[in-house]
Amino acid sequence: MGALMDVLEKAMGVWDKMAVTYPRYDDVAMQKDVRHVLQWCGKQGVNFSGKTILDIGCGTGTVAIPLAKEGASITALDISEGMLGVLEEYTKVLGLEANIHLCQGDWEVYTPEQTYDIAMASLSPAISSEAAIEKMLNATHETGIYIGWGAYKKNFFLDTLAQFHNIPDKTSTGCIKVKQFIEVLEQKNIPYQTYFFETEWEDVFSLEEAREYATMMLMRKEVEPDASVIETVIETFMQGDKVLVKTEAEKGIVLFSTVRKHTYCPKGY
Ligand SMILES: C[S@@+](CC[C@H](N)C(=O)[O-])C[C@H]1O[C@@H](n2cnc3c(N)ncnc32)[C@H](O)[C@@H]1O
Repeated sequence: MGALMDVLEKAMGVWDKMAVTYPRYDDVAMQKDVRHVLQWCGKQGVNFSGKTILDIGCGTGTVAIPLAKEGASITALDISEGMLGVLEEYTKVLGLEANIHLCQGDWEVYTPEQTYDIAMASLSPAISSEAAIEKMLNATHETGIYIGWGAYKKNFFLDTLAQFHNIPDKTSTGCIKVKQFIEVLEQKNIPYQTYFFETEWEDVFSLEEAREYATMMLMRKEVEPDASVIETVIETFMQGDKVLVKTEAEKGIVLFSTVRKHTYCPKGY
């Protein structure tokens, strides 16, 4: 993400607005993907129970909550008060106060108080520069997990909106692709494994939510929203009084170990 867009996003409170409709931990499609991720990590020998975990850009807790249920102790970091507010409610309702520690902060300037058994980030724009990745590597003495986009992400509503606004290419916003993340690991000789899987989901918005979503997403791309074009596109995706937004994507998981980085080993393990 460009520096300007980063500043804009923070100033606009985009994530606080997104928190209203962002999937909760029990959203069926999200739950399926998170289960997929945790099962794959489990098969690679990662045990979450009793581990300290830093979740960078935790959002509504889609990953933090399942991990807390497995007995991990999570520091749930997010820049958005709105997202953390949602997570706080769920933490109370599910009785997970002992396992989830909420922390509001911007990863760019946040200083972790400790190193964690696991540092993770899922679909988080907090990890969008080499400096941010480096900081993530330094935040764990053991294991890191990055979940990002794979080869493609097709959001039919946003793609149509972009086309109608004459946005020339598919300028991407949000978190970086897995490919970019592993390039940094390779430069630093950090061992990793990856796994890719296909996924799809449908967001259901009210008319007002769809207008807000369209406006925000265009502003994230630094494009002046055209209200009449937004209405035309919304009409195409309306079913009854709801707007259905379908996304198809490939997600990727990167599992890496920083043990070598943090352990003195004369034999050069
Ligand atoms: C797409 S959501 C992902 C939420 C969750 N990790 C998931 O996988 O569902 C991205 C989250 O990153 C947070 N975020 C964006 N920039 C951030 C930053 N610089 N520092 C901390 N959190 C940030 C947003 O507030 C938002 O909650």
